[in-house]
Amino acid sequence: MSTTQANKIEIIKAPNTKINEVDFDNLNFGSVFTDHLFECDYKDGEWQNPTIKPYAPFMMDPSSRVFHYGQAIFEGMKAYKDDNNDIWLFRPDENVKRFNSSAVRMAMPEIPESLFMEGLNQLLKLDEAWIKKGLGNSLYIRPFMIATGYGVVANPSNEYKFMIILSPAKAYYSGEVKVIIAEHFSRAANGGIGAAKTAGNYAGQFYPTSLANKDGFQQIIWTDDATHTKLEEAGTMNVFFRINDTLVTAPTSERILDGVTRKSIIAMAKKEGIAIEERPVLVSELIEGIKNGSLKEIFGAGTAAVVSPIKGFAYKNEYFELPEIENSVALQLKEKLTNIQHKLAEDPFGWTV
Ligand code: PLP
Ligand code: COI
Repeated sequence: MSTTQANKIEIIKAPNTKINEVDFDNLNFGSVFTDHLFECDYKDGEWQNPTIKPYAPFMMDPSSRVFHYGQAIFEGMKAYKDDNNDIWLFRPDENVKRFNSSAVRMAMPEIPESLFMEGLNQLLKLDEAWIKKGLGNSLYIRPFMIATGYGVVANPSNEYKFMIILSPAKAYYSGEVKVIIAEHFSRAANGGIGAAKTAGNYAGQFYPTSLANKDGFQQIIWTDDATHTKLEEAGTMNVFFRINDTLVTAPTSERILDGVTRKSIIAMAKKEGIAIEERPVLVSELIEGIKNGSLKEIFGAGTAAVVSPIKGFAYKNEYFELPEIENSVALQLKEKLTNIQHKLAEDPFGWTV
């Protein structure tokens, strides 16, 4: 292994690459990782020892707070490669901002944007061969922070580890997406942690989602916890509904993740002159809309899921399938978004970096 010093980040290179063992045409989301990772530790009130090193397991004290109290946050972003072999990120400043607001909510230290971005940029340069060109190919970036301080007293940790790992990715959902509308379980509550990208929000969904999976549904569309009458978001994406020619999506709140894809879709729709409303969407509107034909499309939007059309939904044990349509607004917006992300079209918003 060779060690070099660059911009204060220590770089320890892997002696070999694993890239030749990877079948890039058959990737299961998030199951293969690149040769290196970035890490940085928070100790004595400051971030220290930023290092890029070979991807490998590491040791932790069994009493580390993350294992007991779930102080853990993460982000999801992607890197793309254009035909000139240049590497592009999509609105990374939004992810850093959200990471730090998740940190504040979970009583964890914020990380300086410069350290996050410098670590990420150097890591991407080192593992750039893992970013494949072409629509549908990307490198999924998973920054995360965990509480490493030892001791099982139920207080915030005083030590943390920040890491970035990278995983080559294709589609998140490989087939049709069908959803169940939540009637009993909840993902988030007012005053809770729903707007933070924190581990427990996902763990809490696994059981209800596994029940949905058994019945052939990939996801749950969560409803507000108090009345279960308003549609909020799905487990890994925000949701849009097209009622006649108007797109509607729930407003962000302390129960909903403020998605980067969501806000990009809203901006693109506005620019295209597509009517868009951010307002509470009622379950009853959806049932009425499917019955009278005004509900044309439902789609999810997220970094991993990109734009995923939803084929149908179940509510109170009844399944409703959406009509086949010719001019899918979801697919038009998906094409515009992915063209911008892959630098195949002009980026009038200045989102690509
Ligand atoms: N909602 C949840 C719960 C998510 O996990 C995600 C994925 O990150 C999203 C929405 C979409 O957010 P983004 O578009 O920033 O990836
Ligand atoms: C993402 O889209 O980045 C997500 O966080 C979804 C993830 C939970 C797979």
